[in-house]
Amino acid sequence: MEKLALFGGTPVRKEPIESSAVIDEDEVAAVTDVLKTRELSRFTGSSSDDIEQQLSMESAQAVNYGGQEFLFLGGRKVRQFEADFAQYFGVKYAITVNSATSGLSVALAAAGAGPGDEVITTCLSFNATGMSILLFNSIPVFVDISKENFCLDPQEVKKAISPQTKAILVVHLMGHAADMDAIMKIAREHNLIVVEDCAQAPRTRYRGQYVGTLGDIGVFSFQDTKNMVTGEGGIIITNNPKYARRCRLIRNHGESIPDDSTPLDDLVNIVGCNFRMTELTAAVGLAQLRKLAENNRVRNENARFLARGLNVFKGIEIPDVVYNQDNVIHILTILYHADRVGVSREMFVKALAAEGIPVGTGYARIIPDNPIFQRKLAYGKDHCPFSCPYYGRDIDYGKGLYPVARDLIKNKQLAFHIINRPNNLNDIKDIIKAFKKVYSNIEQLREIVKG
Ligand SMILES: Cc1ncc(COP(=O)(O)O)c(C=O)c1O
Repeated sequence: MEKLALFGGTPVRKEPIESSAVIDEDEVAAVTDVLKTRELSRFTGSSSDDIEQQLSMESAQAVNYGGQEFLFLGGRKVRQFEADFAQYFGVKYAITVNSATSGLSVALAAAGAGPGDEVITTCLSFNATGMSILLFNSIPVFVDISKENFCLDPQEVKKAISPQTKAILVVHLMGHAADMDAIMKIAREHNLIVVEDCAQAPRTRYRGQYVGTLGDIGVFSFQDTKNMVTGEGGIIITNNPKYARRCRLIRNHGESIPDDSTPLDDLVNIVGCNFRMTELTAAVGLAQLRKLAENNRVRNENARFLARGLNVFKGIEIPDVVYNQDNVIHILTILYHADRVGVSREMFVKALAAEGIPVGTGYARIIPDNPIFQRKLAYGKDHCPFSCPYYGRDIDYGKGLYPVARDLIKNKQLAFHIINRPNNLNDIKDIIKAFKKVYSNIEQLREIVKG
């Protein structure tokens, strides 16, 4: 029996297994080209004679519109990236933004969510999902997750609907598609807008259709840990011309565009932000888009190989969702049952870390446990927007709520972030080897727990 690295033995893995962006010569060349043109951003925030034409153009048309001049829709790389992304996902409009957080806020604002409105979303996601709802003064209503896919539980969504519900913000977490049939049915019955947070799920499908194209608006992230990276960045997709127009306005100082005759509905939430993407970022995005299919293939290959390899260990459970071929696994999540292993999850993870294997345990807390929600302090000291007279309810973010999500992150989740390139099956084999080693020393770890 090999001595555990935790107790001074040789680690399975000496060189670290790291997760890093896949950047090749084509990204370097793309950025260099943009720098040479000196066109770093070509957005103008001002009106022009053809502004309505620009706002209503499908992304495929906009790419060839105008020359090098400044446009309300941005520069050539931005428009090319939008056209290519739209085509890749089979939608009419793609609108780049500087992050998915901005994108989610823009999407909700474009759909008309504002003061007094509630947006139902999952309690388990990156904080940005919840914060994006607050930005335009709507109230997030968090609900628990499904045990099957760790995304919004449709039964919980149903229970959370109130007369103030305006939208559902679905998150396809870890690359797993949420139960969109049930969610869309509820949304249609109650006349709700559906925004899909696809930050972790580009090209995941649901019944053959890409997530982000099932609801009204989809939002993707290109932040550094995502399947496609540009450092920071995001994109909004939709087939709805009204939402596309409003997203374009909100992204780009829209308040300077409408004139006195603009109908009221057109002005709502057009408060003049700058959420624009630079030409440099778009150039990287174009190169990354060409790599997405291969990056996704490797993620799935690594994730499923690892899942099969770990399935044999007592107390390890592989959720069925991992094997659903429609999903592109972003973070591989498996379940750890400490009662069956006889060793705490924290001790188990520590033993693996000593072997050179990084394993996460999920988000540190669920979104509603953040002080901003627990103390209901967002804008100013007077509890806006929770205390907004247009709202008039007292939302409960109680500690007793959301048991499924709490149990997952507190007790069971083992999360593998390192399933992406450049890691390959040889790296994954080292992870399995380290599990074997820890399990063959499990008695020793149990003794520590007892002692
Ligand atoms: C599910 C989810 N939503 C939203 C975001 C926010 O994306 P961004 O960092 O591009 O704002 C992230 C990650 O960063 C995420 O994982």
